[in-house]
Amino acid sequence: MQTLQTTSLWVRDNQLFILDQQALPQASRWLDANSVEALVGHIHALRVRGAPLIGLSASLLLALLAERGLNRDALLNALETLRASRPTAVNLMNNLDRMKLALAQEDFVPALVAEALRLIEEDKQLCERIAIAGSQLVKPGSRLLTHCNTGGLATAGVGTALGVINFAHQQGNVANVWVDETRPLLQGGRLTAWELGELGVPYQLITDSMAASLMAKGQVDAVWVGADRIATNGDVANKIGTYSLAVLAKFHGIPFYVAAPQTTLDPNCPNGEAIPIEQRAAAEVTGVAGSFGEVQWAPENARVYNPAFDVTPAALISGWVLDIGVVTPEEVAAGKFA
Ligand code: MRU
Repeated sequence: MQTLQTTSLWVRDNQLFILDQQALPQASRWLDANSVEALVGHIHALRVRGAPLIGLSASLLLALLAERGLNRDALLNALETLRASRPTAVNLMNNLDRMKLALAQEDFVPALVAEALRLIEEDKQLCERIAIAGSQLVKPGSRLLTHCNTGGLATAGVGTALGVINFAHQQGNVANVWVDETRPLLQGGRLTAWELGELGVPYQLITDSMAASLMAKGQVDAVWVGADRIATNGDVANKIGTYSLAVLAKFHGIPFYVAAPQTTLDPNCPNGEAIPIEQRAAAEVTGVAGSFGEVQWAPENARVYNPAFDVTPAALISGWVLDIGVVTPEEVAAGKFA
């Protein structure tokens, strides 16, 4: 396969490398992701993360494995193992469905390579279109609040919600971005803060529990988040903590926007209750770990509840900003996603 590089994926000498998103921002290191076991391990550990990026990394690996001579049955096994690596993000399933069609072709090796490269290029274009559509909703002087990380690290392009914020910043319309640190894994505190700093977008880091008082003080003009899956009724699964922000935004009369590519829509999922939510290890809540070190603060045997995502009901969402444009609550209620 040709050499290619995005913010967090790198193919060179027919090998796949991923930028370790657990190590950022203290260390920038590329890790080998050349077997299904290695990539699934990286996905579980969130070294590769962000719904679009997970799907793209799995597709690239399949294409590379095909070039290395794996037969159709072995590739199908690899595809199904990768598909099961993250249950909530539907981009992975959507991307792998496309790869499965390529695998069914007689000349499947070039078909898989072409499809993986096409998915990368498409993702860049989807992000660009989301950013163009979404930035039109950002008024001059806006103080925006975002959760988790939805930037170039999480996609092949400029990102989703963070792409919108970046475009709006380039248009001179962003006064400040409130960055939720995003417990328990700190994607906001580590990754969004780092990306906004690199882009020169003004931001202030807050803990997740500070959003309410900021809104009460009139310091937030809009909330922008990404999505792992959008059901046909408009309910959205995203990083844990998103739902609380949506409730807070509704109470304070602040617009709450979800930015995502079409690959995040699940036409087979009628509502948020049908979205599988990944449960994660207790250690993520009893302490914290990263390139900065590892610490546990909770008692050794503390019982923990650790869902990675929550569901925001459509009724709390002001607009779904997709690559096809801004979809309104009225359009969703009329069956736009069905
Ligand atoms: O567990 P993560 O860090 O992968 O969660 C990421 C999110 O929740 C993002 O908002 C979503 O995947 C969209 S990324 C463009």
